[in-house]
Formats: sequence, structure tokens, C-alpha cells
Amino acid sequence: RPMTMQFTRAEHPQPTPASRRAEILQAPGFGNFFTDHMVLIDYDADRGWHAPRVEPYGPIALDPSAMVLHYAQEIFEGLKAYRQPNGTIASFRPDANARRLNSSARRLAMPELPEEDFLESLRALLAADHEWVPAAGGEDSLYLRPFMFATDPALGVRPSNTYMYVVIASPAGAYFPGGLKPVSVWLSSEYVRAAPGGIGDAKTGGNYAASLLAQAQAAEHGCEQVVWLDAIERRFIEEMGGMNLFFVFGSGADARLVTPELTGSLLPGVTRDSLLSLSVDAGIAVEERKVSVEELRKGVASGDITEVFACGTAAVITPIGRVASDSDDYAIGDGQPGQVTTALRDTLTGIQRGTFADTHGWMTPL
Ligand code: COI
Repeated sequence: RPMTMQFTRAEHPQPTPASRRAEILQAPGFGNFFTDHMVLIDYDADRGWHAPRVEPYGPIALDPSAMVLHYAQEIFEGLKAYRQPNGTIASFRPDANARRLNSSARRLAMPELPEEDFLESLRALLAADHEWVPAAGGEDSLYLRPFMFATDPALGVRPSNTYMYVVIASPAGAYFPGGLKPVSVWLSSEYVRAAPGGIGDAKTGGNYAASLLAQAQAAEHGCEQVVWLDAIERRFIEEMGGMNLFFVFGSGADARLVTPELTGSLLPGVTRDSLLSLSVDAGIAVEERKVSVEELRKGVASGDITEVFACGTAAVITPIGRVASDSDDYAIGDGQPGQVTTALRDTLTGIQRGTFADTHGWMTPL
């Protein structure tokens, strides 16, 4: 298709009053409030992606036999729009999210959406709802949630012929109620998130559904988050809930970072990838490799591992302050975010909020 998609726009007949919007933006929390509009694009095998449009935010009618409701052929993305100091709006590496959406689409036997159309879909929504992007200077942003699902009304197990792509947006403050307070994690040996050859490296709802019971088990053990181990040996640390992990070895000028390698059962995080680059920029050595439960325990005990943190788009960087399992329970650090954790977080959020030089060209105007 030679031209960029042209989105039609139907204004919300009764948009949220400015006073109510201001009230929401005062303390948005995470994922509780939605803007006035949404983007929709339809797909069928004959026409491909068609009828791109912006509509009032609201319920979507689905046939009860719609395939997504039965066999979970669904994928999603998450990225943020940030108000820049000059009042414009930019997002962080949306091209990376577009590529990951398509990599998830391939794994789930769904059609790919051209990267330009992904970007245009975000621009179309922001054109209607730009007033929902929180003010510059704070931690808040507008979280964008693109997703795609199978709509064929049929019960046979096969890839759908029809799909919907939708984008909704939600003003976002801190993901974790405790803000930057280190979280406690439970190493799950009973449940696993994903196995080799499975769908662990696709951003699909099923992986998050699989996490809920393990998350509840973590809570029963007094921990805030679950940490997943590899499915085969239950020995190597993969990721935390829905976030990637980093281990800081040493400190000061000798600090180096290790993050679990992408084995195919981990989600390839955009924040993870960005932190790998920022560490190199800062002269901090980084290694992608397997880290075992024993290595973590011994490393923390010997003082070799000084900080552990999780990273993702929603919570950015979250320190980990305690590790528990059937056989372990120990603290990491002194209850405060570590130095490397804090420095990386400040650098990344500075780039995103436009107060730090964007030397990689990551920020994209929306
Ligand atoms: C993340 O941004 O870290 C996520 O995985 C999104 C989460 C809300 C599902």
C-alpha cells in the first residue's frame, strides 16, 4: 500500500469535562481511567487491514463465538506518551513496540500490522486525546495499549480469518502503590510461566493469565511479586511477574550488570533492551546470560551482588529488596533503591521526559 493509513474520526458526543479530566490526572494510578476515544482497524483476508478509525471509547460488540474468547488468539503492546518540556508529545521507541507486536503476531498465527500503520494509529489517537497526556516535569504519562484479537465467529481450532486491532489510552502514575520502595519476590518452583518452544517471548494475554495463580501464591508467602524460574531445571531466573530482571555485581566504578539471556521463554522487554544500551553508554559492563537461584543467593551473601531490580514500561525500574522461596528468605540492600538502580532510572526517565539528551534517537514525536 503506497499511502499512510487515513483514519476517520468520530468525536465523542459527551467528552469528559475538563474539570473531571484534571481531577483524574491529579492521581491517575495505573490503568483505571481511559481517554475519550479509541482507535479501531479491521482485518479480513480479502481486504487486509481496512477501515482505520477513531471512535468514542466504549464497548466493542463481539459474537459470543468470536475465536479470541475461546482460544485466546490475542496479543498486546504497552508504551507511553510523555509530555515534553516544550509542550509537545513524544513516545519512547514506538518502532520497537511495532516490531514486537509483529513478532508476537507471527507466533500467534495472526496478521502483521505495518510499522507505519502502528505509528499512525498512535498519532490518530493522540490527535483526539492529547489533552489527556499529563503535564511535563512529573513521573506521569499516558499509557498506550495497542492490542489485536481474533473475531471469526467459529469454534474450530484454527487461525481466525478476521481480526480487530484496537488502541486505548490510560493516564498512568506509579504502577506499584509503594512507588520506588523495593519489592519482595517469591521464587516460584511449583508454577512456570513459559517453556522452551512455548509462547513466553510473545506478548499475549495467556502468559499473564498463567501468572495470576503464581502471583497469588507469592502473596500467600508474604511477597509482592512472583519470580519465574526456567521450566526444565527450575534453577535459572527468567523474569518477575511481567517485568525483566537485572542483577548488579560490585559497586561504584566496578559495578557491572547481568540480565537473563533471551532464551525464547522470556519477554524481550523494550526497557530491558534500552537499559543494555544505557549501561554501555555509562561504561558499565553488561552481560546477558543465565543466572541461577544458587548464584543469586551466594552472590548476595558474599556481597558480590549488590542490587537487583526489575524493569518494564509500566513501572520503569523497581528495586527488589527481598527474595523468598521454599528454602530461602533473605534481603538485598538496605530497604532503599541502590545507586546503580537509581542512576539508570534517572537516566531513562530523563530521556523519556525530555530533560536528558536522547543520544540514541529513541524519542518519537506523536
Ligand atoms: C510492563 O510495562 O512492564 C508490562 O508488562 C505491562 C503490564 C501492565 C502488563
